[in-house]
Amino acid sequence: MSLVNETPQWKALQSHWETMKTVRMPDLFADDPGRAKAMTMEVAGLRLDYSKNLVTQETLDRLIELAGTVDLQGWIRRMFEGESINNTEGRAVLHIALRNRSNRSILVDGEDVMPEVNRVLARMESFVGRVRSGDWRGYTGERITDVVNIGIGGSNLGPKMICAALAPYQSENLRVHFVSNVDGTHLVETVRPLDPATTLFIVASKTFTTQETMTNAASARDWLLTALGDQAAVARHFVAVSTSAEKVAAFGIDTANMFGFWDWVGGRYSLWSAIGLPIALAVGFDRFLELLDGAYAMDEHFRSADLRENMPALMGLIGLWYANFAGARTHAVLPYDQSLRFLPAYLQQGDMESNGKGVTREGVAVDYSTGPVVWGEPGTDGQHAFYQLIHQGTQMIPADFIGAIHSHNELGDHHPKFMANFFAQTEALMRGRTHDEALAEMLGSGMAEEKARFLAPHRTFPGNRPTNSILMDSLMPQTLGALVAFYEHRIFTQGVVWGINSFDQWGVELGKKLANVILDEIRAGKVTADHDSSTRALLEHFIQHRGA
Ligand code: F6P
Repeated sequence: MSLVNETPQWKALQSHWETMKTVRMPDLFADDPGRAKAMTMEVAGLRLDYSKNLVTQETLDRLIELAGTVDLQGWIRRMFEGESINNTEGRAVLHIALRNRSNRSILVDGEDVMPEVNRVLARMESFVGRVRSGDWRGYTGERITDVVNIGIGGSNLGPKMICAALAPYQSENLRVHFVSNVDGTHLVETVRPLDPATTLFIVASKTFTTQETMTNAASARDWLLTALGDQAAVARHFVAVSTSAEKVAAFGIDTANMFGFWDWVGGRYSLWSAIGLPIALAVGFDRFLELLDGAYAMDEHFRSADLRENMPALMGLIGLWYANFAGARTHAVLPYDQSLRFLPAYLQQGDMESNGKGVTREGVAVDYSTGPVVWGEPGTDGQHAFYQLIHQGTQMIPADFIGAIHSHNELGDHHPKFMANFFAQTEALMRGRTHDEALAEMLGSGMAEEKARFLAPHRTFPGNRPTNSILMDSLMPQTLGALVAFYEHRIFTQGVVWGINSFDQWGVELGKKLANVILDEIRAGKVTADHDSSTRALLEHFIQHRGA
């Protein structure tokens, strides 16, 4: 099978970039007063303006032709129909079934998955109701006041990000905490202020074998039992979310207190499953359903909209335009919403674990860029840290700006100030400032000519830096659901064009395996395995200075 970069459509885009790289975005706006309107769309409560991109209608046409050559629409259909598109693990990819609010049948190997999805949702609803109402009591008969989710990767980042984003909807009677890192500090500092008698742990792990999670869960159990002194307390203070009932039982958690999901839910796509239990506990089951509703609205759009009007597909293609033709290596996610502070970290796993691949589905090495480095911080903190490089550095860094019209915490003129920065940054990045403009400004302010001429190159901004602006009315569960689903489908689109499998993660294996060998050596106090001289010296130093 030929690689996508051997197709005429790819080559046409390469030569199109040769023209586009000299085009100035301000000229595109000047030439077409209708540009912003034509490049703005609204889907599921999200208003996207993508006009500040270095693209013309011709660019979009060519990108859509490229999507046609790889049969993007066919792949979308195959995912939604439950085909086994995760070919290296032989699995369907059906996070969309978890939020299939129409309840239409979705078949995996001839069996409808929806009854099971609904059954787990019903169990979650009942459990959440009991904990939130105080009906579910701890071992000593006290009400649960704190929930600690123990999980890592997809079993942590999604629920953590959503809980922070929906903080305004959270019950004051139930606080939700997250422990992920195997660094003991994370668990110790999280539980220090908590009362074991009123704390409920959720052990969240798809596989229930992940070293970090199992270690933290065992230490959490010790902490509980040290305080409560009776093994029977575990059943009132530990629940599990996993695909493996066997392993949950082996850990000592009653499977009656287990919420299941399925191998067709990828870890990084699992917040919509029972992995979302901390979300439902924090904001209530109805709000959790609203989150699913929002994702469903985006799914329906992605599934049915023509590529030209398809928000995730278009954004995936435009991202690819920069990654593969303009040489961009990273993609910045810049939420102008403090509640979305964990969104960049969440999308790092979503995007980089999905599309950080170097071979096609068939195992052929690719010779073009795949997933970019995804990074970001909320504005305006980011502005005072790294925006300098986005404005004047030598790399092109496409960026998504995400903000709301109304804040959940309207305080004086904070929000207008905040959003003024959002709009100003996107304008400045696009427009830039020429050398002559910089010079004229300084001379106009009375600066001596010699100094002004010296400073002018430093105060020149190249502009032409691409951004997408995503606006919502306010950050509600539905819009948040739509936003996350938007990014999932954007990632899917890019993976399809690159011809890679976005749904496995073999790249995390090697480090895990070597860590087990090294852990045995640390425990034995002796380096025995065959290491390079650097690793050997580091290990010996560690063992020697730590002592037995
Ligand atoms: O980092 C690898 C990974 O397998 C992720 O894909 C996953 O989200 C994470 O580990 C946690 O896995 P589990 O939910 O099985 O503990």
